[in-house]
Amino acid sequence: MIAKIQDKFKAVFGGSADMYASAGRINLIGEHTDYNGGYVFPGAIDKGIVAAIRPNGTNKVRAFSLDYNEQTEFGLEEADKPKQAWACYIFGVCRETIKRGGKVEGFDTVFAGDVPLGAGLSSSAALESCFAFAINDIWQNGIDKFELAKIGQSTEHNYCGVNCGIMDQFASCFGKKGCLIRLNCKTLEYKYFPFDPEAAGYKLVLVDSCVKHELASSAYNKRRASCENAAAAIRKNHPEVEFLSDAKRLWLEEVRTEIPEEDFLRAEYVIGELQRVLDVCDALERGDFETAGEMMYQTHFGMSKLYEVSCEELDWLNKLARKMDVTGSRVMGGGFGGCTINLVKAELYDAFVAEAKEQFSARFGHAPKIYDVVISDGARKLQ
Ligand code: GLA
Repeated sequence: MIAKIQDKFKAVFGGSADMYASAGRINLIGEHTDYNGGYVFPGAIDKGIVAAIRPNGTNKVRAFSLDYNEQTEFGLEEADKPKQAWACYIFGVCRETIKRGGKVEGFDTVFAGDVPLGAGLSSSAALESCFAFAINDIWQNGIDKFELAKIGQSTEHNYCGVNCGIMDQFASCFGKKGCLIRLNCKTLEYKYFPFDPEAAGYKLVLVDSCVKHELASSAYNKRRASCENAAAAIRKNHPEVEFLSDAKRLWLEEVRTEIPEEDFLRAEYVIGELQRVLDVCDALERGDFETAGEMMYQTHFGMSKLYEVSCEELDWLNKLARKMDVTGSRVMGGGFGGCTINLVKAELYDAFVAEAKEQFSARFGHAPKIYDVVISDGARKLQ
């Protein structure tokens, strides 16, 4: 991929450029908790975005996407938003950097990625973090890594229409080889946890349903609004509740009849998910993968029945995993399609993957994709 990008850069713009990379992410547990001020437990993966970037001495960005085989040009003023969705991520990162007082001038770039799109692995966060990191490095803006992650998050909010939390951009900025990171999304305290399932006889595998839901971003924003609504109701009785994750289960019960049933169920899931992240981290520190896996199943149940971000294909994959004694399995990421993440004993791996492929194809008429992921480094300059 690196050589292809360099060749294309030379062909389109001439000469060579500095190379930057960033990563997609997985999340072992802690879903839809980030914008509720709770915990998440992600890690960067060995699939990401690579970009060649060189200042061009103008005030225009000229960008070439190898994956879309498309080139575009845009200025750096608010009114210059490009038409292509992929270019809006780069434009947004430039604008958000400028809003924070950073310097950005025109540049030429060619980029490509190998994060499967729509699989819930945060290809967009990888793109944002790659450019946020590169721009900060090239113009020596001295913006810290948390703010770089927030530049990506604000890009989603202000230029892409998704009211996302901080998890994806955090993981792709802070990712470290061999480690998952537990982040408290309220205080932004974080801790690296070495994660080596293979050493304990397990494998982590993603099964991609290849289902993508059109309205996923509006459904996502709706989930967030439900949580904020529930938190606001609880806050009337308990002013210390800033985020939903500050609330106790009992406090939610107190407002049950005051909020729509739907909002209650969403909040019930979020409050349960908080404790599960802490339980999984404790279990992993003891090397107890069985407990971690059981929590993953509980999360799937909550995401499917209470938060309602699963779908028929993902529920089916989760059931198959349970039937085959896979240690842990659940829908990963925002939901509405995409992948299940599975923690599976090494000796069961081949059989599980074979069954998932065969039975899923027979049931749904298309094969799922299988990704083995390696926990890797996040945003960086390539040497
Ligand atoms: C998407 C968002 C994240 C997070 C997850 C769900 O990936 O970008 O901020 O909310 O969904 O956990």
